[in-house]
Amino acid sequence: MDKLVIQGGNRLNGEITISGAKNAALPILCAALLAETPLKLSSVPALKDVGSTIKLLENMGAKVTVIDDKVTLDASLITNQEAPYEMVKTMRASILVLGPLLARFGHARVSLPGGCAIGSRPVDLHIKGLQAMGAEIHIEHGYIEATTKHLPNKRLQGARYYMDLVTVTGTENLMMAASLANGITVLENAAKEPEVVDMAECLTKMGAKITGVGTDVITIEGVERLSGAEHAVVCDRIEAGTYLVATAMTGGKVRLNNARADLLDAVIEKLRDAGATVNSDKNSITIEADGYAKLKAVNIRTAPHPAFPTDMQAQFMAMNIVAQGVSKVTETIFENRFMHVQEMQRLGADISIDGNTALVKGVSYLDGATVMATDLRASASLVLAGLVARGETVIERIYHLDRGYENLEAKLNSLGADVKRVN
Ligand code: UD1
Repeated sequence: MDKLVIQGGNRLNGEITISGAKNAALPILCAALLAETPLKLSSVPALKDVGSTIKLLENMGAKVTVIDDKVTLDASLITNQEAPYEMVKTMRASILVLGPLLARFGHARVSLPGGCAIGSRPVDLHIKGLQAMGAEIHIEHGYIEATTKHLPNKRLQGARYYMDLVTVTGTENLMMAASLANGITVLENAAKEPEVVDMAECLTKMGAKITGVGTDVITIEGVERLSGAEHAVVCDRIEAGTYLVATAMTGGKVRLNNARADLLDAVIEKLRDAGATVNSDKNSITIEADGYAKLKAVNIRTAPHPAFPTDMQAQFMAMNIVAQGVSKVTETIFENRFMHVQEMQRLGADISIDGNTALVKGVSYLDGATVMATDLRASASLVLAGLVARGETVIERIYHLDRGYENLEAKLNSLGADVKRVN
């Protein structure tokens, strides 16, 4: 299995281009299932999760061509409406095929995703929302069996549905389903994440009638059919945020192209509180900082957008462990998202956990060591720690990183880091 070997201590300087967002690309790829003609996407990041989603769609009969960052999906002939366990277990986002399959074909069989490293992550709200739209759903042999055969014209019926918790993929699944439903659907307490907005923009180009995206209440007027369209996936705010934190920690000056500061307000505000200088224009963000010894630790509390994103929590923890002072990092979205803490302790971090809050006391240096992580953002946080640790840090199980960061080591090395991938 591949490892990353990092020699810590280099400052980062220069510029890189941020890729399309994983969390927008995955639902938009699944939205292709709604369309009777080809959907043409650009700015699709070359990531393992994107490859897995394409395989899943091909397994259903979709014809997919990939040329660089351009992906064309033709779902005019779907031969089976099933997402098997072997595919879903490697990627929870596979649940995103449920809504579109049911809405267009009146039937779907999708494996339950099961637990994952950062918590139990149920999909009950996806299921309840589809039931509110009239679907008949049973869980059998670990599979969600969903049908609309008893409904008029076998079509989902528009409904008003309040989501108990703000759920990103839940909102996306229901928005896709409602786009082909009969009548009007109102989703209350909807997710406002930029990736939800990007997906709604793509659905609108495909012919969907959606209003209210980016607010708590999304209204969807179902249409008879959707067609293909052309869409460029929004830039990855979490990838951008990760490089911003990296530069704050190592010191230096880095410009991120294809990055939008307006999607990262909460993150940029915390970086400024920590002592970094952040400037932006419409399509780029520049950060300048003196390195971790000059950074102030900052308190973090994760919450749905536009508050501080849970997908940036581990990276800020990496910053706080070497910043000046004591900080509190509170995770409110996932119940088990502190898997990086023990690994950071192996590098010399001083962290204690009390429930969903980590108390972090900044230390004056980290010592390189061999570490591994069990999820994507935790792995990224260990890379950041490795960039400032004394000597060599080895990150194991880097397949997590390949799920979510395109060309991570090439991008870091182009900025002056010393990161090698070894077998
Ligand atoms: C998405 C993102 C992920 C991010 C997360 C929170 C994708 C592909 N993944 O994950 O990177 O960390 O949003 O911003 O976009 N919940 C339920 N029942 C449900 C659905 C969710 O209890 O039916 C709970 C979850 O366990 C979690 C919370 O709601 O505690 C939020 O989860 P959710 O927003 O659904 O996360 P994902 O969409 O899976």
